[in-house]
Amino acid sequence: SRRVIVDTDTAGDDTQAILMALASERLSVEAVTIVAGNVEFDYEVENAKYTLQLGDAEGVPLYEGARSPLLKDHVFADHVHGEGGLGGDLFPDTGIESANGYGPDVIVEKAGEHPGEVSLLCIGPLTNIALACKQEPELNDLLDEVWVMGGAVNVLGNDTPSAEYNFWVDPDAAKIVVDELDTTLVDWGLCMEYGAFGPEILDQIDAMETPYADFYRTVTGHVREFTREQQGVDAVTHPDSLAAALMLAPELRGEISEYYVDVDEREGMTRGYSLVDENGVMDEAPNTRIVESLDADLFAEMSLAMLQGEAPE
Ligand code: BDR
Ligand code: CA
Repeated sequence: SRRVIVDTDTAGDDTQAILMALASERLSVEAVTIVAGNVEFDYEVENAKYTLQLGDAEGVPLYEGARSPLLKDHVFADHVHGEGGLGGDLFPDTGIESANGYGPDVIVEKAGEHPGEVSLLCIGPLTNIALACKQEPELNDLLDEVWVMGGAVNVLGNDTPSAEYNFWVDPDAAKIVVDELDTTLVDWGLCMEYGAFGPEILDQIDAMETPYADFYRTVTGHVREFTREQQGVDAVTHPDSLAAALMLAPELRGEISEYYVDVDEREGMTRGYSLVDENGVMDEAPNTRIVESLDADLFAEMSLAMLQGEAPE
């Protein structure tokens, strides 16, 4: 199975991505690294530990990483995920200790130990990954695949009208990462179109009596409420577990295109904007793969299987 490091700002949908990656025999989660993002850093650490324990994976080392964005002030997304990041419930202490080591260093070390074999699943702001890039200029050659949940392509952003949260909160890091690594982007638009569950699937999950389904209901409750209030629809979005599923299951992927992508790191209305040169007018070589479509039914199937406690394949 493929070695993967999950880099996460652990809130609701991050937990589902971690569980999805752990449940699949096609991936071997070598480490989890924590990055500043959705909620206060220490909550993110505890949320990830709780998720590892639930996934029966206490043995997977967890490394703490950057506690703030590279240059910008840190802004949380707890208005989306609830206090603490898991729908407002604070989970009990797991007793799991963080491993010794700093997230970005560990990414560089593990990539160096197994050249060409380690993939990254990046489901938070890209601060840790950008720091790893700066530390190891050859990082791109040392890594296998880099999957990034971030950006808003052909769609309004979720954090501001022009930007998605992960890119918006640390645009300086996002700019470095799309520039230096061969990334595959799972953007907010894709998640809205193919990765949201409406009442029909949510009813099925509501009827499940498994520990994972229980956890799902708790951690997504706040997002469901937020989406209802903001957009007037009953739906839960799954950007991070969609990225995990796409990474592990090639049969899920639809069209993937390669474009030149850049990120606006300047303060102002378009901070965090993901610029995609679809028509090739900028005369720049394509640097990013963008997933444009996928099999939404299969994603729902994989998610339901995972929540039942089965391997998602
Ligand atoms: C992204 O931001 C976070 O709130 C989610 O976990 C996801 O990674 C979506 O914009
Ligand atoms: Ca996230």
